[in-house]
Amino acid sequence: MKKFGIVPLLALVASTSSFTIAASTTANADELNLVCSAEQDWCDLMVAAFGAEHDDIDVLMVRKSTGETLAQIRAEAGNPKIDVWWGGTGDPHLIAAEEGLSQPSGVDTSELLGWAQNMSQISEGKTVGIYAGALGIAYNADILKKLNVEPPQCWADLEDPRFFGEIQVANPNSSGTAYTELATFVQLFGEDQAMVKLAAIGKNVNSYTKSGSAPSKAAARGETGVSIGFMHDMVNLAAQGFPLKIVAPCEGTGYEVGAVSIINGAKNEDAAKKWVEFSLRADIQSRGPEVGSFQVPSNSNAKVAPESPDLASIKLIDYDFATYGSSETRKRLLARWDKEVGDPNPQ
Ligand code: F6P
Repeated sequence: MKKFGIVPLLALVASTSSFTIAASTTANADELNLVCSAEQDWCDLMVAAFGAEHDDIDVLMVRKSTGETLAQIRAEAGNPKIDVWWGGTGDPHLIAAEEGLSQPSGVDTSELLGWAQNMSQISEGKTVGIYAGALGIAYNADILKKLNVEPPQCWADLEDPRFFGEIQVANPNSSGTAYTELATFVQLFGEDQAMVKLAAIGKNVNSYTKSGSAPSKAAARGETGVSIGFMHDMVNLAAQGFPLKIVAPCEGTGYEVGAVSIINGAKNEDAAKKWVEFSLRADIQSRGPEVGSFQVPSNSNAKVAPESPDLASIKLIDYDFATYGSSETRKRLLARWDKEVGDPNPQ
């Protein structure tokens, strides 16, 4: 596997929200307020690349997890501060569309793969797929060896007391990754059994993080033995030399279609549309791997990095985006999760 430069540890523990401003030198420049729910390094690269093509637009970017962004957009409905939301799992983008919080971008999606166009169709053009990635389990091989614990192969293994205090996963209220996990369990096992299984796994969880990629970073650093998250984030850490092993769970797994949406009532609609068009281009999508983002790009002409998990070789469920990307379903599942699984120490 190709090696990447070791990212400084500080970057790995970067907070889930930090500001970047790509300031233009042009007087009377337009502004674009962007929330980015991908990894900070990719957010920064995108802002810099967009700025290089549009020196008349100042981009003000903040990085936030998917569920947190949906909460902000809901709170600001009618007077939005955000123009465009790029990245993050697709279900909350679909929910924003259903609730009238985003608007059709009118962009050409003909070069995009079917799963990306599907997001557009479900939302009547209000959100578009930008990348895909499968959910999985990672473990720190050194830690499990030291603990003399057999690595997991299946979701069911994570219920075993041998993992007591060794599992980390995000909270599905704030994190799109963890909501994908919740929806995946419901689709694999049915709603009641999903809650029973997640509560059993919960007995082994040491912490529910805000951001979906944080648990695998913790596993990479040896702060937890096992993490649940997206495989492309795990691949990035393994490629940096951390002793992380990636597992495609034996029962099958779910996946995300990351998305981009223009917020309804955006004050900088033209700039927002330019961003969406820019982010769907093959040359732009091909740049994710430069900063260790190994999602599968949605543009059929974009380059897929050899490190990107091969979705065709993973036992994927037929994830029902229309159902799990609906307000009513998310509200019900999160209420059940809070009651039946719960985070004893919400962050
Ligand atoms: O790290 C990038 C990523 O895994 C994206 O693929 C995904 O859309 C996003 O994180 C989800 O982040 P969160 O779970 O924090 O909402």
